[in-house]
Amino acid sequence: MYKSHTCGELTAKYAEQEVTLAGWVHRRRDHGGVTFMDLRDRFGLVQIVTNSDLYPEAHKAMEPVRSEWVIQVKGLVHMRPEGMVNPEMSTGEIEVEVQEVKILNPAKTPPIYINKDEEIDEQVRLRYRYLDLRTARMRRNLVLRHQVVKFIRDYLDENGFLEVETPILFKTTPEGARDYLVPSRLHPGEFYALPQSPQQLKQLLMVAGVERYFQIARCFRDEDQRGDRQPEFTQLDLEMSFVEREDVMRLAEDLFTRLVGELVPEKRLLQSPWPRFTYDEVMTRFGKDNPDIRFGMELVDITDLAESSGFRVFESVAEGGGHVRGIKAQGLGDYSRKQIEELTEFVAQYGAKGLAYIALTSEGEQRSSFAKFLSEETLVEITRRFESKPGDLLLFVAAESEITFESLGRLREFLGARLELTDPDVLGFCWVIDFPFVMYNAAEDRWDPSHHLFTSPMPEDIDFLDSNPGKARGQQYDMVLNGYEVGGGSIRIHNRELQSKVFDLIGLEPEVSQERFGHMLEAFEYGTPPHGGIAPGIDRICMILAGEPNIREVIAFPKNQNARDVMASAPSPVEEEQLKELHIKLDV
Ligand code: AMO
Ligand code: AMP
Repeated sequence: MYKSHTCGELTAKYAEQEVTLAGWVHRRRDHGGVTFMDLRDRFGLVQIVTNSDLYPEAHKAMEPVRSEWVIQVKGLVHMRPEGMVNPEMSTGEIEVEVQEVKILNPAKTPPIYINKDEEIDEQVRLRYRYLDLRTARMRRNLVLRHQVVKFIRDYLDENGFLEVETPILFKTTPEGARDYLVPSRLHPGEFYALPQSPQQLKQLLMVAGVERYFQIARCFRDEDQRGDRQPEFTQLDLEMSFVEREDVMRLAEDLFTRLVGELVPEKRLLQSPWPRFTYDEVMTRFGKDNPDIRFGMELVDITDLAESSGFRVFESVAEGGGHVRGIKAQGLGDYSRKQIEELTEFVAQYGAKGLAYIALTSEGEQRSSFAKFLSEETLVEITRRFESKPGDLLLFVAAESEITFESLGRLREFLGARLELTDPDVLGFCWVIDFPFVMYNAAEDRWDPSHHLFTSPMPEDIDFLDSNPGKARGQQYDMVLNGYEVGGGSIRIHNRELQSKVFDLIGLEPEVSQERFGHMLEAFEYGTPPHGGIAPGIDRICMILAGEPNIREVIAFPKNQNARDVMASAPSPVEEEQLKELHIKLDV
């Protein structure tokens, strides 16, 4: 070993002991004949000192040494002189007087600061990720992620789960995204698909009698990137046999409640047990199926008042079957026209054609883009529904239901953050249940599964599959935290006829379903237990626990927003010869 101790472990109890340390030079300060450096390794920082009078050779050897050089030093631990103690450092009471130095490797000047907490362009950080990962922030995130995964493994092991690895080279498992394909050299013209999740395999493990399975599973989805999405990401994938919806939800809730208590004790749960909402309830109250429930500002429906309000925009939307809803932002009643314009642009991203407002200034005046068209009674009724007071800003969207919900749901969370209603130390977990089993896809004129095509409908709703599919509810559940969907799962179909019926409903031709999922249908004929599971997203959960703004911060080597690895430069062109072997001709 190059070291007898780690930098981080040295405290007063080591005073006057001889130690050998190895690590990186974090920072250097010269004071004439005395040089102070902070030496860093993964476990912490310690101050080392060279003195030209006491150990001239060591002092001289240190002359060229700069930030990020890798060195080994031998010396004595001393208590720091009175007044020099640094209470910010765990090793702040001591320093190491260097007697011998060995330079293990010099370093170029790093393109990013490692010893300062400074905003650095993310592309540069990703280009030099191995340096970025040296920073305290990234190290903290790596440690947290390790602890999260370890906690999960220990918990599930204690609860009788088996960790089983499933293939990466497989066949399409549709979760609603595009597949990543891998060409086969041995089978010209054929492709593997990387799993969007291990969904089929975990169900087949239930047929295999595993009963309680889990995996820290890498999933691959070729979809548009966002802050909470990566082309490859990690799920805690789990599946259980002989369970009902309640059992899976209870297990996941207990697991994450304990995990939070142990790993981030400084954070508190908003509510325990976690509240549960039906899909309809979260949509009408929060406008999205993954709401941030740490604050109110709930949506208020005024569609009924809109119909004969006198304001054409509202009337025509209401007549056309659309919705008029609003939210109340307390404290923004003095917003200027320009500030409201900015909010209008915000909702325009989600398709809202405008953002009507009533601003009640703190002086008690009213400004509005549309109140002049309304009757006195309508205005009074609106004020009553919102319980509005001076200082409030009422904001309204009139549109088809999806647009009204999405734009107000997003605006609500945007304003919640701006008004600092979202306490970062509070974890607002909740469950969303009773989703529609299928959603109508108007563009393609067909029903799409709202979770995935192996999800079971609620037993009492099975008859709706023939009579009124839009009315059937699915046996699925989403785990939601602070405005993010952090997990999803369901009770599965375990019967061949029902599975065929669902394939049929969503318009999969029998030949296609046979070709894609014949192995599943076949397996279901050999004694399949009732089963269900869930897949919490590890990246999103770590992001929220770490208080980071996106999941790239909790992934060691993420792709950028263009799905590129800018460090290794991937994807990249390949040799003509490789393409030939794979029987591929490019057409770009
Ligand atoms: P679902 O598609 O809902 O369900 O995914 C489960 C969870 O995985 C996370 N997630 C992602 N995280 C980062 N980047 C992405 N691109 C991404 N996509 C999804 C989310 C999400 O809640 N097989 C089913 C689970 C089941 O039914 O058991 C599935 O994959 O946190
Ligand atoms: P206009 O009559 O277009 O000047 O709009 C009057 C007000 O109504 C402005 O505040 C617009 O932002 C708002 N507005 C227009 N269309 C909509 C809509 N679909 N939903 C909500 N407000 C709207």
